[in-house]
Amino acid sequence: MKKLILTSLVASFVTTGAFAMGDKPDIAFSQQQINNAEALVENSWTQASSEDRKRFVQDKTQELCSHYKDQPPVDIALQIVEMNKAVTPYPEGGIALGDWKEGEKLANSGYGMRIGNINPDKNKNRPNGGNCYACHAMAPSQPAAGNLGPSLTNYGMRGTSEAMLKYTYQKIYNAQATKACSNMPRFGYHGVLDDKQIADIMAYMLDPNSPVNSQK
Ligand code: HEC
Repeated sequence: MKKLILTSLVASFVTTGAFAMGDKPDIAFSQQQINNAEALVENSWTQASSEDRKRFVQDKTQELCSHYKDQPPVDIALQIVEMNKAVTPYPEGGIALGDWKEGEKLANSGYGMRIGNINPDKNKNRPNGGNCYACHAMAPSQPAAGNLGPSLTNYGMRGTSEAMLKYTYQKIYNAQATKACSNMPRFGYHGVLDDKQIADIMAYMLDPNSPVNSQK
């Protein structure tokens, strides 16, 4: 009898262990749940143009992250990072920091890529912003900041080595190339920000004279 209990305990331990490493049913959404969520998004944007609607279609990365509720098993996480590295080009010859004052404007601006009509839109020629403050604290003088992402105050303390420039560029261009299922938007990959704008934002983060690095 005792032996039987022990055997079943071991068996259940082994089963649980196997689930933890693989496709745990309660960690993944079913295809039906995903279809329902996609239909809800699709139907709630009544004003979206056919161009906008292309953004409702998940790419492979988004499909995997949705399926695993942003917690993919290690092998899938590595696959996501590799897939995104392949579409995250680093400018030839590296990247030179731009103008931090321009970067400050872009970090504060949530303008661009809106769905639906904003009528009358007087700012048609205004460039897209990065909306960094929606998720990150940056300059200590700026009182309103979100906290979905980590604080970037004094980010410049990390210096401007080539590795640091590359890491920062990749994070902004395509955060999924550095962290699978990151909640940070993929600004370069989706064409929200161009390389000049990214260089300006990087200056805002890394230039010693930028207010981001003013905390003593
Ligand atoms: C929707 C929220 C969101 C927005 C908007 C956002 N981020 Fe992030 N960011 C995150 C999250 C979440 C993380 C942590 C996960 C990760 O590292 O990918 C992060 C991480 C980072 C990191 C790495 C932090 C570290 O300590 O190494 C940097 C750098 C960064 N963001 C810069 C920016 C910049 C610059 C902008 C604006 C162009 C921006 N983020 C906009 C959510 C956001």
